Order: sequence, then C-alpha cells, then structure tokens
Amino acid sequence: MTNIVNSEQIRLKALNNLWIHNRDWTEMAESGGPPVITSGEGIRVTDSEGKTWIDVNGGYSCVNIGYGRAEIAQAVYDQINKTPFCPIGTTTEVVINLAEKLAQLTPSDLNRVFFSTGGSEANETAIKIARAYHNRCGEPGRYRVISRRGSYHGMTGGVLWTGDGPAVHKADYGPGYPGMLHVPQPNPYRCEFDAQTESECAVLCAQAIEDTILFYGPETVSAFIGEPIAIPQGAPVPSKEYWPMVRDICNRYGVIMIADEVVCGFGRTGKMFGMEHFNVSPDIMTVAKGIISAYLPMAATIVSDQIADSFSGGESSLKHVLTNSGHPVSAAAALANISIIEKENMVDNAREVGEYFKSQLQGMVNDHPYIGDIRGIGLFLAMELVSDRETKAGFEPDIEVGTRLTDKFKERGLIFRARENILHFGPPLCITRQDVDEIVHAVDIVLWEFEGECGVGRLA
Ligand SMILES: Cc1ncc(COP(=O)(O)O)c(C=O)c1O
Repeated sequence: MTNIVNSEQIRLKALNNLWIHNRDWTEMAESGGPPVITSGEGIRVTDSEGKTWIDVNGGYSCVNIGYGRAEIAQAVYDQINKTPFCPIGTTTEVVINLAEKLAQLTPSDLNRVFFSTGGSEANETAIKIARAYHNRCGEPGRYRVISRRGSYHGMTGGVLWTGDGPAVHKADYGPGYPGMLHVPQPNPYRCEFDAQTESECAVLCAQAIEDTILFYGPETVSAFIGEPIAIPQGAPVPSKEYWPMVRDICNRYGVIMIADEVVCGFGRTGKMFGMEHFNVSPDIMTVAKGIISAYLPMAATIVSDQIADSFSGGESSLKHVLTNSGHPVSAAAALANISIIEKENMVDNAREVGEYFKSQLQGMVNDHPYIGDIRGIGLFLAMELVSDRETKAGFEPDIEVGTRLTDKFKERGLIFRARENILHFGPPLCITRQDVDEIVHAVDIVLWEFEGECGVGRLA
C-alpha cells in the first residue's frame, strides 16, 4: 500500500501530466482526484490510501473475470520470455491458437480473425472490410454505413460518426465522415415511434432500416452495424422480432451485418455472445473488452468465410496494417482469460446472478418514485431514473443528477458512475449474490437520500 504522503504526490503528478478520458485536470483537482488504484481482487479494488471499493462498472464493463488473477500474469510473463513480438510477415503459435479458439466459439462460418487493440479499431476494421468487400464484388458505390441512434461504436476518426446520442461526443470534430446514416434504437421504454408494445417497437425500428436502405438505394449501402444490446441508453433489450428481421433485411439487399459484441461478448449477458439470445449470426463480429478482461489491450474482427474468401488470391488481400495486430503477449493473456471464463462457468454465473440482481433492483421500484425502468439481461443491467413516471421526464440540468449520485455512491464505497439519469451495472462476472446485496443496499440508501433532497419519497 502507498502511504498518504506518497499518495498525495502521485495525485499531484497526475494533475500535472495525465490526460484521463473525458475529464480535465481542473475538474480532477477540484474533486480531489483522481483516485489512484494500487491493487484489486474479484470485484473490489484498493486505492493508494488503502480504501477498498466495489467496482460496479467493472472498469468500463470490461473486467469480466475480475481483478487480480495470477494466471493471466503468469501467461504474460511466460509469453514475454518466449516471444514478446515477432518479425514482419511472421506470427506466433499463441496468436494462431487464439484465432482458432475464436473461430470455434463464434457461430456459423465466422472463421477468419483480424486482431487489433480496442473496440474502436475492431469496428474501423469491420467497416473497412465491408467497403473493400463490395469493391471486390464490383460494387464500389456501396460506401454508406447504417447505425442506430443511442448506439456507441468507439471514438476513432471513422466510427465516431456511427452511433449517436449524448455518449458520442461529435461536436468538436466535424465535419463528419461521409455516408453515415442513423436509424432508431429499439428501446421499448423510449421508442421513437411511440409504439405501444415491445414487439411493435422492434418491428418498426427494423422496418426503418429497410426504409433507409431503399431511400438511399441498396447499391450505395455497405453495412449495418449494431450492438446486440446497446450500452448508452442503458441496456434496452430489443424484442425477439428485431434481430431476425434485421438479418433478413441485410440478406435481401446485400448489406453486411456487423454485430458489435465489444460489451456483450464473453459472457456479459449470460451467453457467450449477445446475439445468441436472438439466434442470429452476423457476417462480421467485433469483440474487445471481455476477450481479455482488459488485462491488456486486445480486440478482434471476426469475419465470415464468405466475405473473407474475397480477400484471398491475386491482388485481393486486405490492405490494412496495425503494428500491434496479433500481439503474442496479449494473445497469451486472452487465451488464459477465456480459459478462466470457461472453467469457472462465468457465463452461467452472469446469467444466474444477473437474474437475482435484476429481481433485487425490481424489488426497489415501489419504494422509489424516481425509478422509471429497470432493464437488461445477465450482468448487463441498467436503471433509468425519471422525475415523473407518467411523463418519463428526466431531471433539470441544475440538479446534476449524474454527479450527485456518483458522489453519493462514493460515500457508500462504490465506484459507480451514473451517466446522467442512467445507472449502468456492469460488474465482473465473478460477482456473488452477497456482493449484489451489498450493492443493492447502497443503491437503495443513495436513492432515498437523493429523493429526500429533491422533496419526494420516504425521506422527503
Ligand atoms: C459497444 C462498444 N463498441 C465499441 C467500443 C469502443 O471500444 P474501445 O474503447 O476499446 O475503443 C465500446 C467502448 O465502450 C463499446 O461499448
């Protein structure tokens, strides 16, 4: 453990030199941050002052196996001693083994794997493959990409323009990438079509994809990209009609279907991949986060044989190089991570403990007038807070609901960032029912306090 004086010095250094995601150093200084984490085990981390926290977000919904697994450290150590990297045009056995493992785990003919280092890169790669595929098929006019409002596919130059909504910060970076089209998110709680049932919402949202393809012309549309269940609007699970309809529409118009499994993949939803809930297989799947539980950077774009085959032979190869694509050390860590997920039945645990977690959250609804909706599946859960259940209205900006709740969770020992009025639960998949009870109890108290301060609820 670092002592308090050292801890203060480390924080000052951070304020001088470090640039953390979505934050600035003035803000960090004002809030006494950033907390500096020195160790972790399971779902808990310890900071430089010796305080232990529950990580309710599991990093960024990515530390699937939990913190502190020595097996990963050993695999990394062994691989660095063998081959930390390899010469141009070569590879290593461990990378080949990981590609084979991914081909075995994924459905149908998703057999060809391009590695990268993060979800954004994996999605950039998928979009490039989709466009290049159409070029090779003699349809160079197919460049447009359809994605959903309320989706998030990453922050790099191209994929930033897919998805939309407050989680995707585009304002500083225009003009946008050409050809990016957006359709509604099948979010039954806030359906853009004001549908009366979940099924109706799903059907109308899928239909909007076909309408968009027809409006712009199928000969201009390259790909559709979507997460099985999207994160920014808080895990809205589409009704069962949605994905099979999307699959049919993509088939009908020759549009490549890309499933972004960056969050859902590797057990988070209680199945190995999110699309398994819908019995649908994409043409391209992207994975990151849970593939390696974020112990090191690693991601992959997994492509169907049908598409990949067009990149083989003659001048057809994909012209796309990332220095750290297929990094042997990350591959060793990823294989060790997948082995832990499988041997310790973490996918089943996500399903079982996730059901318990959701039922405990649902049990709070009658006590808390601000709970608007509880949704999600497995350990991909969310609670949406509203100021009025009837109208589903959010909160005035001066209430600063996100910051206030996040601060209150800190007082209760939770690192749990509220994204405005949405609480997103994405803990490590090794979480137990007792851990869930601890989190739910803290959320209960925080909501009582918050509602009391706002003049509603029991403490008002
Ligand atoms: C669904 C989804 N896709 C892509 C990304 C981008 O991944 P990365 O931050 O590793 O680039 C994220 C990140 O949170 C994500 O949630």
